[in-house]
Amino acid sequence: MSVNNRQLVLRKRPQGLLAPGDLELTQSTVPDLQEGQALAKVKYLSIDPTMRVWMAVDSYLPAVVIGEVMRAFGFAEIVDSRHPDYKKGDRVTGLTGLQEYVILDGSPRQGFHKVPKIPFVSDTVFLGVLGVNGLTAFFGMELGQPKKGETLVVSAAAGATGSIAGQIGKIQGCRVVGIAGSDDKCEWITKDLGFDAAVNYKHPDWKQKLAAATPNGIDIDFENVGGEIMHAVLDRMNLHGRVILCGLISGYTKGDPGLASFAMALVKRLRIQGFIVLDYASRFTEAATQLGQWKMFGKLKDREMIVEGLEKAPDAINMLFTGANTGKLIVKI
Ligand SMILES: NC(=O)c1ccc[n+]([C@@H]2O[C@H](COP(=O)([O-])OP(=O)(O)OC[C@H]3O[C@@H](n4cnc5c(N)ncnc54)[C@H](OP(=O)(O)O)[C@@H]3O)[C@@H](O)[C@H]2O)c1
Repeated sequence: MSVNNRQLVLRKRPQGLLAPGDLELTQSTVPDLQEGQALAKVKYLSIDPTMRVWMAVDSYLPAVVIGEVMRAFGFAEIVDSRHPDYKKGDRVTGLTGLQEYVILDGSPRQGFHKVPKIPFVSDTVFLGVLGVNGLTAFFGMELGQPKKGETLVVSAAAGATGSIAGQIGKIQGCRVVGIAGSDDKCEWITKDLGFDAAVNYKHPDWKQKLAAATPNGIDIDFENVGGEIMHAVLDRMNLHGRVILCGLISGYTKGDPGLASFAMALVKRLRIQGFIVLDYASRFTEAATQLGQWKMFGKLKDREMIVEGLEKAPDAINMLFTGANTGKLIVKI
């Protein structure tokens, strides 16, 4: 029986936010499965800022080739298999791409691994708190080597990664200050997630508020944004502070690196450590187990925003850059 597959194909490298026509919705027929392949139906797509980078330039992965299905992480269920490791009904996460069906070939390039069914827990956790974002927050915070009583500042603090990183900081005994782009987001991270303070960077006096919220300076910067925000945070770093360079989202749509001045890195003898979560693949199970326990015992709270329909994925990607999301952004197919 032939299976129709709707796919979002990269047609143009975006300038700024995604414009109509950068990704085109197309249809194709899924080819017959070969020995060693399995067919999975994609249920949820993870919407990540790095997708905008993948559309534009070579980075830690090569840029998506024009004319190919747009790369994306997703959650999928096996519907047919000629692969010894996969059977019908298995649930997997990996690089599904922005499409309704994906053929798995078991290669590391696709990065698929099986995930369990957890009673009373939504499958979407495997894209957020127990997926890329939770793992990124976990390993990033490990790099920051937090000590009890230190001050941690997290930017994009109400986003999928920042909201978890800040809560891990609380678990580890830090004073945690979040920087976010609305009063509602600031209220969520302080009232619901337990951050000690939050600063809305869209208020004109936000730098004074950051100073007031960090009276003892800043020991650890969990940096998701770069640019002016990172600059202001570096200005308040303590001697020998640690900067966990997780992301530089303020530069992704502008084609600049979004870096802050390095003068403070020199003057304050900072340790700046960039990382990519994929480097830690061999420890994902260990980290997901810890994150799962924290979630089960109510120490980690997460929030998801679900957008319905594959065709909405381009708009959803843009939501990350206008701050329209709180918590993990997901497209449901
Ligand atoms: N190193 C890794 O392996 C790795 C893995 C995953 C993610 N990341 C990085 O982590 C960061 C967060 O990713 P995420 O998936 O968790 O996304 P997210 O935080 O859920 O969403 C992005 C948020 O960034 C904020 N933002 C966007 N443009 C901004 C700007 N110009 N200035 C200030 N804030 C801006 C917006 O919140 P506001 O309303 O607060 O502005 C937006 O909601 C990104 O930089 C991403 O590249 C890195």
